[in-house]
Amino acid sequence: MASRATARSPSYILPSVVALSLLSLVVVVYKVDDFATQTKTLAGHNLDPTPWHLFPPKTFSDETLHDRAYKLIHCSYLACRYRNNDIPERRRPPSSSAKAPECPNFFRWIHHDLEPWARTRISAAHLEAAKQYAAFRVVIVGGKLYVDLYWACVQSRAMFTIWGLLQLLARYPDRVPDVDIMFDCMDKPIINRTAHESMPLPLFRYCTDEDHFDIPFPDWSFWGWPELHIYPWNEQFRNIKRGSKERSWRKKEPFAYWKGNPDVSSPVRTELLNCNDTKMWRAQIMRQDWEAEARAGYEQSKLSNQCNHRYKIYAEGYAWSVSLKYIVSCGSLTLIITPQYEDFFSRGLIPRVNYWPISPNAICPSIKSAVDWGHGHQSEAKEIGQRGQDFMESLSMDRVYDYMFHLITEYSKLLDFKPVPPDSALEVCAESLVCLADPKQIQFFKKTTAYPSASPPCTLQSADSNLIKRWRQKKKEIMKAVEDMNPKERRRLN
Ligand SMILES: *[C@@H]1O[C@H](CO)[C@@H](O)[C@H](O)[C@H]1NC(C)=O
Ligand SMILES: *[C@@H]1O[C@H](CO)[C@@H](O)[C@H](O)[C@H]1NC(C)=O
Repeated sequence: MASRATARSPSYILPSVVALSLLSLVVVVYKVDDFATQTKTLAGHNLDPTPWHLFPPKTFSDETLHDRAYKLIHCSYLACRYRNNDIPERRRPPSSSAKAPECPNFFRWIHHDLEPWARTRISAAHLEAAKQYAAFRVVIVGGKLYVDLYWACVQSRAMFTIWGLLQLLARYPDRVPDVDIMFDCMDKPIINRTAHESMPLPLFRYCTDEDHFDIPFPDWSFWGWPELHIYPWNEQFRNIKRGSKERSWRKKEPFAYWKGNPDVSSPVRTELLNCNDTKMWRAQIMRQDWEAEARAGYEQSKLSNQCNHRYKIYAEGYAWSVSLKYIVSCGSLTLIITPQYEDFFSRGLIPRVNYWPISPNAICPSIKSAVDWGHGHQSEAKEIGQRGQDFMESLSMDRVYDYMFHLITEYSKLLDFKPVPPDSALEVCAESLVCLADPKQIQFFKKTTAYPSASPPCTLQSADSNLIKRWRQKKKEIMKAVEDMNPKERRRLN
């Protein structure tokens, strides 16, 4: 073909054509590089850390600038457009005549979290004002997901959060409503209830507390946390449960145990270091050294190897900590140092039913008192631990998706405008995330790929704000009663 074409052309044209195409190639390459340096990605390319929570910027040093430019353009603009539709197989779900079970009780907090907008509803102006606190915006329209990126998120939080949302869309095709959500991926709630009283701003994040409007949403670790070798939740729970059975209750160490990172500006964890004395406080406090763990192949940090104690301590970190679900999964008696922050499921935990509360004002004496109580009430202590494990088992990924589904659905009912992706947003699909991901992240994506569900989501109970008030009240009463079991130590401390 080529030789026939050149044979027909006058001889001087060829060099000019070559020169011209070389020139345009240079221009295109230059333009592509230029374009690529402005393309923000969920892996964190061309994004600065959130100004309200700084962290070291990501480095992408393992590829040449040119390769990176090509990759960014390909993943961001082409991967969804030219996706191969054969993966995964999209079966039609059977009609939803199957009877759905009622959702767990703690789903009722969804109504509580959205209560601030029940009367005012959520306007485009609300979203615009919430934008200054958001790392990214998620717009779902017609079952397609668009992301507008503002700031980088630490590690692969953003990637795995969006992955989770894409799996929700795959699980319940045609059921997830159109929606427009501002999302922050850093730890602490930011929308102060007092300061924003006149105009509450809707902002999703991974936790909240009583003083903030922030709306809690399942965190990325349910789909895995590759940087810390923490597997997706279903698999991780199975491993921990298996590990917890390796020693019978009697064979487990008869003191309380905590292992983690105390250097996260958490007063509770700092205080906890003072309790490291199995004789005096019945507790062992171990420092997690991630660099040493990495060198040792994460054998020591395996969560399934950490269920060898009758009592396990939970201490929140800089804010809520993803470790809560792994600790309670052990089936030991969980000693929860009463946290300030709540994630979406921790509100379902009830003191003396599935955990034991520890007063944050007198941590060491409260731990000692809890362990002493456990020694005197072995079977009761064991039962509370078992109910904790049962609670975590009931929080399957099915229920995590149902929580996301109901939260998003209830939220969408409050929007007083029709969501439209902004011009700066890009469509994100499974293919575009796989395109940006490293091999380990891809491995986690494969493990957590969702398929259309054969059954409909669980049925959400109606709103009942009195019920939430009663729960809070009851929780406070139980915690007070537990604290009163320990008058001597409290007096000594004061
Ligand atoms: C919330 O804002 C109020 C008034 O601006 C302030 O007094 C309070 O300390 C803030 N609360 C938190 C938790 O930052
Ligand atoms: C706590 O004590 C144990 C044994 O006495 C020790 O090995 C460990 O390093 C201590 N933990 C911390 C955080 O210092």
